[in-house]
Order: sequence, then C-alpha cells, then structure tokens
Amino acid sequence: MTGAGSPETRLVCPGCGAVLPALSVQSTCVKCGGLLFAQHEDPPERGARLRELFARRSRERLGLDASGVWRYRELVLPGAAQDAVTHPEGNTPLLDRAAVSRWAGITDLRLKHEGHNPTGSFKDRGMTVGITQARRVKARAVACASTGNTAASLAAYAAQAGIPALVFVPAGQVASGKLAQSLAYGARTLLVRGDFDACLKLVREAALRLDVYLLNSINPFRLEGQKTIVFEALEQLGWEPPDWIVLPAGNLGNTAAFGRALNEALRLGLISRLPRLAAVQAAGANPFARSFREDFARSHRVRAETIATAIRIGDPASYDRAVESIRATKGVVTEVSDAEILEAKAIVDASGVGCEPASAASVAGARRLAAEGVLKPEERVVAILTGHILKDPGLLITYHCETDPLPEHANRPIEIEPKLSEVERVLEATGFGA
Ligand code: F0G
Repeated sequence: MTGAGSPETRLVCPGCGAVLPALSVQSTCVKCGGLLFAQHEDPPERGARLRELFARRSRERLGLDASGVWRYRELVLPGAAQDAVTHPEGNTPLLDRAAVSRWAGITDLRLKHEGHNPTGSFKDRGMTVGITQARRVKARAVACASTGNTAASLAAYAAQAGIPALVFVPAGQVASGKLAQSLAYGARTLLVRGDFDACLKLVREAALRLDVYLLNSINPFRLEGQKTIVFEALEQLGWEPPDWIVLPAGNLGNTAAFGRALNEALRLGLISRLPRLAAVQAAGANPFARSFREDFARSHRVRAETIATAIRIGDPASYDRAVESIRATKGVVTEVSDAEILEAKAIVDASGVGCEPASAASVAGARRLAAEGVLKPEERVVAILTGHILKDPGLLITYHCETDPLPEHANRPIEIEPKLSEVERVLEATGFGA
C-alpha cells in the first residue's frame, strides 16, 4: 500500500459525480446512495508492453503473480499488494468440447470454466479483492446477501483474513453445496424467510446500522476482481478477442464488470476491437431481458422463480451499469426456459466438464442466439461457466433419479444384487458399450 490515501485509486459515483477516497468504508455513494466505480491511474505500460508484463507474471507459480486476479493488479487494485488476501484464485481453463459445440450449433465455442476457482465459482475473483479492501479499511466484520456462491466465497476469504463474516441467504432456496460451504468455512449464516431481493435489502440496512463492510457486488472492488475473467480469457486467446462473450445474468454484477473490463482492455491497447456481450437470464427471473426488449426504456422488477437458484433474482442491483455494458458492446440480453437450462446442463455435464444450473444458462443462451441468427454459426464464442457441478447436487439427483417421466439425458442408476449374473443382465438390457 502506498500511503494511507491510496492515491492510485478513487471511487467515483457516475450518478452525481461525487468522488470518494479509495479507503472509504462506504460501498455506495455518500451523497446520492448510487453505486460507485473504482477508478485507477492508468499503468505506465500499454499495448504490447502490458501484455508482456502479464505474460511474464503468468509463468510464476508462487506469490501474488500466481493469482489469476492479482496478476492484472494494475487494472484491479494497484498499491494493495502487501494486503492481498489470495488463495490464489483464477487461472481457470478455457475448454472446448465437440459435443457442446454441436449441441449449441456453434463451431468455435469455448467454455471459460470459473467453477475451477477455490470455492467453485467466479465469486472468488471478486472476493479476493473485496476482502483485501476490507482489510485495508480495517473492517470489523463483513457481510453479504447471497443466492449461495457469494456467501461461500465470502465465508472462505473472510476466514483466511480472520475477519468475522455474516451472510444472509433465502431460506430453502440455496443449493446444498453452497450452504454447506458457508457453514463449514464458519460464516454466521442467517436463513432469511424471503427471497434474494429481500436478503439484499436487509443486508444493506444491517451493514449501515451495524457498521459491517458490505461485500455484495454493489461493492465496487468486487467488480474490479471479476473483470479478470475477461482479461484472462482474452489472454488465453492471445488477445485476439472472440466475437461474443456469453454469460448468465442475475444481480448483473458480472455483466457490469465485463463491460468495464472490455472497455479498459480496448483503451489500454490490449485488444483492438470489442467483443459483443450476451447476457442470459432464466425466463422466470428475467427483468433485464424485459428491459432490453424495450430498449432499456425502464427497469423491471419481477417475482423470480427458476431452478437455477443462483440467478433467482427479480430486482438486480447493478441494472444501470449493466445497461452501460450492453450498450457499449452492442450486446444483447436473452432469456432461456428452465427446460433449456436443464438440457444445456445435461450436455455440458455429459461432456465431462460439468457446471451448476445457472452456468448452463450461458450455453443454452448461446444456442438460442445461434438458432435465432443473432449469433452466426461461424463466429467465435466464449461462454462463461460460472460455477462447479457439485454446487447443486440435489438438482442432479432429482434430474437423474427422481424425475418422472425420465428426461432424455437422464442417467438413472440401477440397483442390483451382488451377483455377476445381475451385472451381465443389466449390461445386456441397457446395451452398455454397444
Ligand atoms: N452464475 C452463478 C453460479 C452465480 O452464483 C451468479 C450470482 C450468477 C451466475 C449471476 O451473476 O449476479 O453477477 O449477474 N450469484 C450471486 C450470489 C447472486 O449471491 O452468489 P450476477
């Protein structure tokens, strides 16, 4: 850290123009209550020199450079190196699987698998920066509302930093893997009798009243970390941008972060043109898709319902900044049904990659956009898989074992007596290996 004021970074409110020092404990504008952006001084290097710097660091196996977030620190949170709370995180693979491409009808489809992060979702990229910032502002405790993944990530990073963590999750609506993580990492876990939107409202009130540092994605430092999904994917593609980046959209933090990352990458000469963003919502939780259809004339609020509990959000907090991302990249917003999400997930899972339901929305959305001709089959597409397959084991068991009638891609287990004749009978009956 260079000096108490952290001169490299300031917080800016795009709503009223207020400017706050980087080490403010408020995560929203003190004047108008709007959401803030972190703005950093530009690094001395640009273009090829900056790309070389990042490439050199990516060969490191130890220290800050081993993190797929902090490797890009000039664009994330300069001057915070000595306070960084890192696992490390990031360094997630960019995969291609023929079966998934074929199903989506897109020849060049890559899957950026954020489920490979330490707690199994992209949230770790924002949380390493958020908890680092919490340490820098000497937060007494940290808190978030969550559909599960943010809570798991907050709990893990807060434990590492030795800061007490408080999480608010909708009772009965959190996938078991995520809830289990929050408990195991030691966060004080409140099961709120309400939906995510109610949890977010409550935690915002509580954070003010109880003097705890708020680490939802309304916190600008979370977004700074999440930008690195884009930086890393671009670097993996040799800084030759794809035509599209497709991502699931709930509270819209990631959509906001991606737009910022792309603009910065262009401005600093890391890339020479912008990919288009495609944000994908679940049809039962589609306020952003509704607004897009009306050319963003107004924001919508819905009562959200979808099997993809991670994106079961009716009143997204980062609406304004996500609109900016879609506009700036000539992007689109679409929606997919739960049936499409489940089918996409079954295809991704059976390819050996696997992801949680909300992640599959990006693949389902890519397929829909290709079918509609919005996305051309020869275009290069990166779809973000936001979370790990084991986040939601309950849904998997229901899908494969308990759904009646059996879905097309279900793989029902078969119980047998411990006899070889039974094995032979079953294999023959099911055409195994044929
Ligand atoms: N995918 C997964 C797996 C998520 O957990 C989330 C959000 C999203 C996509 C959507 O991202 O909110 O930035 O638009 N999960 C939050 C949480 C809300 O609390 O874990 P977004």
